[in-house]
Amino acid sequence: MNLENLNFIANHMTAPGTGVLAADESLGTIKKRFDNIAVENTETNRRNWREMLFRSNEAMTKYIGGVILFDETLRQKSDDGTALVDLIDAAGAVPGIKVDAGAHDMAGFAGEKVTNGLDGLRERMKEYYQLGARFAKWRAVIEIDGHRPSAACVATNTHALARYAAICQEAQIVPIVEPEVLMGGDHTIDRYAEVTEWVLKHLFMDLHMHGVALEGIVLKPNMVISGKECAVQAGVDEVAEKTVRVLRATVPASVPGVAFLSGGQGNRQATVHLNAMNAGYDLPWNLTFSFGRALQKSALAAWKGENVEAGQTAFAHRAKMNSLASLGKWTAEQEAELDG
Ligand code: 13P
Repeated sequence: MNLENLNFIANHMTAPGTGVLAADESLGTIKKRFDNIAVENTETNRRNWREMLFRSNEAMTKYIGGVILFDETLRQKSDDGTALVDLIDAAGAVPGIKVDAGAHDMAGFAGEKVTNGLDGLRERMKEYYQLGARFAKWRAVIEIDGHRPSAACVATNTHALARYAAICQEAQIVPIVEPEVLMGGDHTIDRYAEVTEWVLKHLFMDLHMHGVALEGIVLKPNMVISGKECAVQAGVDEVAEKTVRVLRATVPASVPGVAFLSGGQGNRQATVHLNAMNAGYDLPWNLTFSFGRALQKSALAAWKGENVEAGQTAFAHRAKMNSLASLGKWTAEQEAELDG
């Protein structure tokens, strides 16, 4: 393993002013997004949508440091024969690949999930490197509900994340390590903080056990907010304070970048939370975004299957707002320049 190179890539993807575009929706998930704008879920439409994003020059060259791709996209070419991965490279962003096989029901623990995909991963990783991927993503899903998550659910998921991360680094690929504690539910922000802290502590213990070099990973956590159905919704300052407290208590300073998932937060809400953390706290890691929905929602609504320029304008605006938030320099005035 060339750790210096992994560290360089992890820093590049999360450098202040930039973040990651998560465009790795599986076939089922992209169908849900397309259903909202009445676009048919065909291979060509999926390619056109993603090509539109990757050809968005302003967003890609200024604000996006990495793009997470779905397997299909890593192999697709545009009409003029350019591989989509080459568009990303040409914009100066790093192409990456989602390698997990999704969250599946966990035997013996009704309602809990474990992420599949380790079998054969070592072999697949070699091909992904040849196809141009320089980082990967694996998402674990942990739900809060009453007494859940169970210790077994947390341990099984963090163990899989650690094994995945070790396989990535062996293949000279930076692992994005994503232990997502879901925001859905009526849990309070304090319960969310408690479970997130537990999961992250367990995760870093397992990463250590599996020999993963922290200088060569990117952590992709959830923010600590109030559960979506909780009667009391914490304000921006409380979210920033509690998220930063949990991260400081769990994430070693040797990790180059922490890039949040948006997890179903509103576009602007996710941006404002990220901004408050970067504006209010001095942090040892790059703290930025690795958003899927919060970067794409307004662009999808503007594109609607054909409006390339409108889609690119909306995408560039959201990417710029999140870039500003990664610097702690976002303002409502700049937001209002285009309704995001
Ligand atoms: P969201 O920002 O929509 O949560 O997606 C990010 C992601 O990559 C989830 O794995």
